[in-house]
Amino acid sequence: MCGIFGYIGKKENAAEIILEGLKRLEYRGYDSWGVAVVPTEDPNKNNKIVVKKRIGKIGDANVDELPTATIGFGHTRWATHGGVTQKNAHPHLDCTKTIALIHNGIIENYDSLKKDLVSTSHRFISETDSEVAVHLIEEYLKKEAFEKSVQKAFLEFHGLNALIALHAREKKLIAVRNGSPLVVGFGNGENYIASDAAALLPHTKDVYFLEDNDMVVVSDTDVELYNVVTGKKKRITKQKLAWDVSSSELGAYPHFMLKEIHEQPGLIVDISISGISSAKKLAGIIKKAYGTYFVGCGTAAYACIAASYLFSKIAKHHINWAVGSEFSYHLDFLTNKSLVVALSQSGETMDILESIKAAKQRGARIASLVNVLGSTLYRESDYPFLIGAGPEKGVASTKAFIAKLSHLILTAYALKGAVSKGSLLLKKTSKAGKQIVTNEYVLKLKKLVQRIKNASDIYVIGRGISYPASLEAALKIKEISYIHAEGLAAGELKHGPLALVEKGTPCIVYAPLDETFGANLAGAMEMRARGGYIIGISPKPHEVFDYYLPIEDVGEASIIPGVMVAQLLAYYLTIEKGYDPDKPRNLAKSVTVK
Ligand code: F6R
Repeated sequence: MCGIFGYIGKKENAAEIILEGLKRLEYRGYDSWGVAVVPTEDPNKNNKIVVKKRIGKIGDANVDELPTATIGFGHTRWATHGGVTQKNAHPHLDCTKTIALIHNGIIENYDSLKKDLVSTSHRFISETDSEVAVHLIEEYLKKEAFEKSVQKAFLEFHGLNALIALHAREKKLIAVRNGSPLVVGFGNGENYIASDAAALLPHTKDVYFLEDNDMVVVSDTDVELYNVVTGKKKRITKQKLAWDVSSSELGAYPHFMLKEIHEQPGLIVDISISGISSAKKLAGIIKKAYGTYFVGCGTAAYACIAASYLFSKIAKHHINWAVGSEFSYHLDFLTNKSLVVALSQSGETMDILESIKAAKQRGARIASLVNVLGSTLYRESDYPFLIGAGPEKGVASTKAFIAKLSHLILTAYALKGAVSKGSLLLKKTSKAGKQIVTNEYVLKLKKLVQRIKNASDIYVIGRGISYPASLEAALKIKEISYIHAEGLAAGELKHGPLALVEKGTPCIVYAPLDETFGANLAGAMEMRARGGYIIGISPKPHEVFDYYLPIEDVGEASIIPGVMVAQLLAYYLTIEKGYDPDKPRNLAKSVTVK
């Protein structure tokens, strides 16, 4: 959840390079930031590291006051231990100010380690668990070399952690990982370490994704890899990033979320062709499995629910689904014939990683639909499939959801033995999506926004595959516009939620032209009879709709244009209310804690 960016090379503006790197990680969500460098010029010969830390967003921040340097690192913090204060922001320094450290994760036994360190006269400045790490390294450094000190300290931590340490007298960055992601970028006479490969794109596409228990010692010309537990040297296998620099930049768009929504029609068409072979492979794996479970969190969980409808309807095939955080409570019946298909944009969501770990312990095989190459989920899967959505930077997931749905539709058709039909359907769906990102459509949405912007609650209903569409629409609205929104299976209305519908309550009704059409309209009527303001998303207008948002009928894929409408509605509601859709409060892009 924290962002990490480190640089070592010949360029003397390390601080600026690091700050730029941190800005590229801004989308992950954070509450404070900091940069540490080792000054090139050290007139007092005191070997002190210089640090700048601030609370809040980086925005237009600069590091002008930091000295010239060729080595350093920075961090964006998402608070866990200790409040959002400048002291708690990273990097942290040891008592001598010659060691600096940035950390992501939770050192579960920090309390007892801290007590020991305080008793040996270490002075703590912050309330964080992370500061323990830098003092422990300082302690080991009394007897050991820098590498050994970092290794020994790291092995004392309980929990899942990633850190980078630097020493003012050593021209190297040392990074260790057990849980949280880290990736090394290889340059020419310079090297980088980041928490996210997208941050490396302006500098290099040659990368190495650290595995658990990897420790790297990075100098300007060399990267050495070790197993942190055994100390044994390992071979580095580099990977090449396929993403373009422009794919992770805003271009002419005011927000990443809007850019990513607009990319969706193109993405669907790409997947209709490039996704065929992976769809066939995944379908083959599902066919052979004795029971298949789809797992995901948040938006990805809703893609799992959608999968259960798609596979049933298109391929007449039963699959189970669960949210990542609940999966471990009902996986006792998994066997070595079971298949778990994990869906994740980041590939680093802790609840998913724990789920697949537990499933593996029961012998199940793991397939994944994941967006980030080299992510932990990608590496831990027996059958990893990339969804190819390109970097997704808006905290609210949009294009990764649509990419997952596109792959799932193709896979369901492949399972039926009719993958070309699925491919054709996606092409049609892409055209339906293009009609939603037009100026004309946006005007329609903006008019609706004026009507509903002051609502305190919004209800979204649908049946069949429109049920996960309703859940996703409500999630998009609530997480960025902060209006309470609830997605419901339309049939559940009269079992309780209808009590909440009052005069003027906005009620969004999905009514695709499938077997649910009539029943969805019945739900709309029930809400209208209680004064609800009915917003219909459907290929067909109806008198029950107070406001009509048309979508094209694309059969089983109608969830895609349906959700795209809700994404844009959520976006413009958020803009109207004056919030930043890319960085909703309290949330982070990659949820690497439980
Ligand atoms: C909501 C959203 C989250 C993520 C969830 C899983 O818009 O983005 O609900 O979908 O945190 O993230 P990934 O897909 O990275 O596993």
